[in-house]
Amino acid sequence: MCAYIKLISVFTFAIMLTSVGLSQSNYMASSPDKNIRLVVSRNDAGEIKYSLSYKNKDVIKPSSVGFILSKPEVKLTNFSIAAVDTSSFDETWKPVWGEVSIIRNNYEELTLHLKDRSGSGMVLNLIFRVFNDGIGFRYEFPKQDAVNYFIVADELTQFALSGDNKTFWIPGDYDSNEYPYNTTKLSEVDALTAANKEKDIAVKSLIGANAVQTPLMMKSTEGLYINIHEAALLNYPAMDLLLNKQTLTLTSTLVPDAVGNKAYMHAPCKTPWRTIVVSDKAADILASKLILNLNDPANIGDVSWIKPEKFIGVWWEMHIGKGTWDMASGKHAANTANVKKYIDFAAKYGFNGVLVEGWNDGWEDWFGNWKENVFDFVTPYADYNIDELTAYAKSKGVKIIMHHETSGAVTNYERWMDTAYRFMINHNMDAVKTGYVGKIIPRGEHHDGQWMVSHYQRVAEKTAFYHIMLDAHEPVHPTGLQRTYPNWLASEAARGTEFNNAPALGILPEHTTILPFTRLMGGPMDFTPGIFHMQLNQFIPQRTTRVRTTVAKQLALYITMYSPLQMAADLPENYEKYLDAFQFIVDVPVDWDDTKILEAEPGDFITIARKEKGKDNWFLGAITDESSRTMSTTLSFLDDGAQYEATIYKDAPNADWDTNPEAYVIEKKLVNSKTKLDISLAKGGGCAISIIKK
Ligand code: NOJ
Ligand code: CA
Repeated sequence: MCAYIKLISVFTFAIMLTSVGLSQSNYMASSPDKNIRLVVSRNDAGEIKYSLSYKNKDVIKPSSVGFILSKPEVKLTNFSIAAVDTSSFDETWKPVWGEVSIIRNNYEELTLHLKDRSGSGMVLNLIFRVFNDGIGFRYEFPKQDAVNYFIVADELTQFALSGDNKTFWIPGDYDSNEYPYNTTKLSEVDALTAANKEKDIAVKSLIGANAVQTPLMMKSTEGLYINIHEAALLNYPAMDLLLNKQTLTLTSTLVPDAVGNKAYMHAPCKTPWRTIVVSDKAADILASKLILNLNDPANIGDVSWIKPEKFIGVWWEMHIGKGTWDMASGKHAANTANVKKYIDFAAKYGFNGVLVEGWNDGWEDWFGNWKENVFDFVTPYADYNIDELTAYAKSKGVKIIMHHETSGAVTNYERWMDTAYRFMINHNMDAVKTGYVGKIIPRGEHHDGQWMVSHYQRVAEKTAFYHIMLDAHEPVHPTGLQRTYPNWLASEAARGTEFNNAPALGILPEHTTILPFTRLMGGPMDFTPGIFHMQLNQFIPQRTTRVRTTVAKQLALYITMYSPLQMAADLPENYEKYLDAFQFIVDVPVDWDDTKILEAEPGDFITIARKEKGKDNWFLGAITDESSRTMSTTLSFLDDGAQYEATIYKDAPNADWDTNPEAYVIEKKLVNSKTKLDISLAKGGGCAISIIKK
């Protein structure tokens, strides 16, 4: 590993431009490869604006920065520039786990040291980093004499788009990100109409007709792919974006707390990075490591206990009505005998973990009742013999994965956390799935506000202390914090498999071709793929819900939906019907040395190949939306001259997500780096290939 930082100069980048009597200072920085150009300017009114171009095409037109503070009352938009610093940075680092085993972090940095001219005397730094794949910028408030403690009423960061971009968006909402994506021109965003169609979301706090969430993915009329998000969201609320349809400008709107304040700040402090990833190739967006690079390295000591893993779970059977979480129904799924069957299945097929939901007392009345003490996280149901199951799992070499549904009673969870994690350690568990269904009580904080953002951080830190791996459901959108907290393996934070069972919109075939360009930009998703039985009426005949993919596409999702934590979500008995296809899930790794994005277009298709960590085997996944297509690729990523055996799991010629989703064909053949594959993907279909070196 190598690292160097070079402080170049102060003021050298300032160019004074004078036109029509106005003086304007411009500061510039370019990406190491010179494709991206950032210009930051200050006008006579003291306003600072930044703009961005890629290969001379406009990405962001001059856009404002600043804040409105409510305590003290200060509008931070009129600045003098005390100094400007520039520097370069280039290092490589190794993630504990990931899509690749080595990441290069290479950028040019431009820092403007600003002073408020409106009388508060406040100083702040505006820091830009320009990478080959985009930029990040953040505000930093040094410890200062003038004002050290302040309340943010609004952050005024803007993103003025250069045209009416094609946009993949979900409605702005302070509490939920589990929406289906809409694809419209930016000027056609209609968040309230879209959100109101959706009836199956536990708690909605819509911001307005023109508000959208990040990561926001766009494609410009000039063919540029642009992604706006944030990195290193800590001790600050999440950012949503408010669109001005006349100017096509997005302005940050921060998630408020229970009394309407946005952020409580105590200098020295800093905001998350605002990120813009850009390229003329869609594949580059998926390959970008910009958001990870903007997060701090891990500082949690020994990480050898952190292990990517596959798991099964007592889970889908509750969602599709075979059993229940609660015991009173008489159909309690998490009973000792049933969990033993799952442990047997996991042991037989080599899964490390068995998630058990509904193991603990409280599910009879857990949701929406504004109750503080529904769960204590340490009291099993009477028919769940935890000591017997701990011993049984241990004897089979399997670990039970803990489930902590908070039902929104997060203060209650905070009271129980240490006890609950010690209880896990005492029962040989090293992974927890948390959940935040419903309103956050007792104060009415939002899922995406500063208090909850700090809660998720406390959970990440506390679980790290106990050597516990974390998977958070219903949290704020991820922002690359897995670099800092590598035990935080995955989050949900988007519409996952469970929504196939939602009566309203469910999951459309295109959804998984959009998620990697949106939600996954921030980090791995616990999407829970692997459903083989597509009609969800196995146990409740009148149910009309269904999965809108083929079986082959479910397999491909293990590659295209990156996560170091992957569930095989369907019932063991459904896998036993299709053991030949299940073999791909058994074989697919969850940690990688390398990743090649072979083809990609948001909303249409994605093909990715990944090299198994520490081995010479490759795994390929290709998915399409509702249209059939041919996936064409040459396996040029394989070692020259070497032979591999490929097992191709593909849609049968008559497969179709709607009329024939469970029809697949498995084919084996020898391949090498010259082999060209042309494989038909059905409507809503896909293809998964394991390529094992001989
Ligand atoms: C929602 C989660 O996403 C799901 O996985 C879980 O089963 C339920 N909440 C119950 O906690
Ligand atoms: Ca959920």
